[in-house]
Amino acid sequence: MEPTQPSVAPVTPERTALRRHYLMCRPEHFAVTYAINPWMDPAAGASAEKAVAQWEALREAYVALGHEVSLIDPLPGLPDMVFAANGALVVGGRAYGARFTFPERAAEGPAYGEWLRAGGFDVREPEHTNEGEGDFLTLDGLILAGTGFRTDVAAHQEAQEFLGRPVVTLRLVDPRFYHLDTALFPLDGNNVAYYPGAFSPGSRAVLERLFPDALIASEADAAVLGLNAVSDGRNVVLNAEATGLAEALAARGFNPVPVDLTELRKAGGGPKCCTLELRSV
Ligand code: ARG
Repeated sequence: MEPTQPSVAPVTPERTALRRHYLMCRPEHFAVTYAINPWMDPAAGASAEKAVAQWEALREAYVALGHEVSLIDPLPGLPDMVFAANGALVVGGRAYGARFTFPERAAEGPAYGEWLRAGGFDVREPEHTNEGEGDFLTLDGLILAGTGFRTDVAAHQEAQEFLGRPVVTLRLVDPRFYHLDTALFPLDGNNVAYYPGAFSPGSRAVLERLFPDALIASEADAAVLGLNAVSDGRNVVLNAEATGLAEALAARGFNPVPVDLTELRKAGGGPKCCTLELRSV
């Protein structure tokens, strides 16, 4: 039997964008010359020229959304420096510096630290291994922190002490998702999207408890680094291939902004990896 009642249209919440300040690094020296994650194959060939063109479109997308983008000069010999998210964790005008796991990227930590110091941020030299916003994601009431492949748990404690914000440890278990920002992103200050298969059973339980209304992403969307996305609370910049995720975001009232970063994915990076948020509050 056909229902006689008129059906009620689903209520999609109005989302509000907050203007952000991002730091980015043009991939002029981009290459895949070593392999420190399963995405990287030095034999596959990666083009700096292509990477720059795709990265420029990402930068333009941020500017078109009304965000401020600052730039740090790329240094020769540091092909992964384009991944600005790894350069620090900046919250409330304080910058907790990065200390990289692999020697290939070690010089990036001081380079980002110097830029931030010159920009007036209170920079803390880290004692413990951590890869900045690759493994630290900031929400209103807490910071989520990944461990298992790169960042040490001791760095989670160091960041909590320096920033005065609660830091919650999450354990990553799938090498494809070696940084927290490859498996999870904040939709806004209070909720997240994530791929459960990237986390240990205990960490999955923590996420379910903290975010009962989270957007759960499929393996297919995660496997194109769809979760390496950047949300301003309304607009979500994400890899174009993550079509299921884009649909789910739209159904929740977000505006998906697809970008093509296939060249940078050869190094295991996506939009979020290229973007360090500079938070003054
Ligand atoms: N090739 C880089 C590495 O393995 C990619 C870093 C990606 N950055 C990120 N925030 N997930 O270190």
